[in-house]
Amino acid sequence: MKKGLFISIEGLDGSGKTTQVRYIQEYLQRKGIETLLLREPGGTKIGEKVRDILLDARNTEMDSVAEMLLYASSRAQIMAEKVIPALEEGTAVICDRFIDSSIAYQGYGRQLDINEVYNVNFTAVRHILPDITFFLDQHPDTSLRRRKEASTADRLENEEMEFHNRVYIGYKELCSRYPERIKVLDAGKSIEEIGKEITEQLESFFERM
Ligand code: TMP
Repeated sequence: MKKGLFISIEGLDGSGKTTQVRYIQEYLQRKGIETLLLREPGGTKIGEKVRDILLDARNTEMDSVAEMLLYASSRAQIMAEKVIPALEEGTAVICDRFIDSSIAYQGYGRQLDINEVYNVNFTAVRHILPDITFFLDQHPDTSLRRRKEASTADRLENEEMEFHNRVYIGYKELCSRYPERIKVLDAGKSIEEIGKEITEQLESFFERM
């Protein structure tokens, strides 16, 4: 039986997720809530190996369905090993990327059948979805610039602009499909402003609980 709060954070590469993930963790810790911070793909011994395969820029021949299944395998493992046990203990789980990444990147970006991507991933997550998801809204042009500033690009970051544009469209569609769960944050705002909005959203979530 799930007791803990489940939060995920989403966005294009270079949208500032990592900073905000830490902010959420600090906020919850100040409230006396135990937290577990995870990232996807990865977060487990097996998942980190899968991550290496997925992000290795030399794996240019990777098939899109194989890619989708690898992301889902890493997710199935982290659910079984980390997310479900933590939620059952009442720990708040904060996940840097989750199922929405697969819908946006593999479904929209790779143009796979969206329903198939959903079905595979619902199996992987045992039909457990985050209570609240923060989407850091950043246009792909800005995110491309930030990616180019980074020293090395991984396999996904090396994709052409059209791919990242499709991923962005996918995220926007997810935001309008699940307005109750997905809270949109303007990634162009300052770290402090975004943090303040996150606090407000979490406070109102706690009030409704
Ligand atoms: P990260 O850089 O945020 O750790 O994410 C790794 C890359 O993997 C990023 O480019 C997004 C991509 N990704 C997918 O394509 N599908 C997924 O399901 C996940 C979790 C990440």
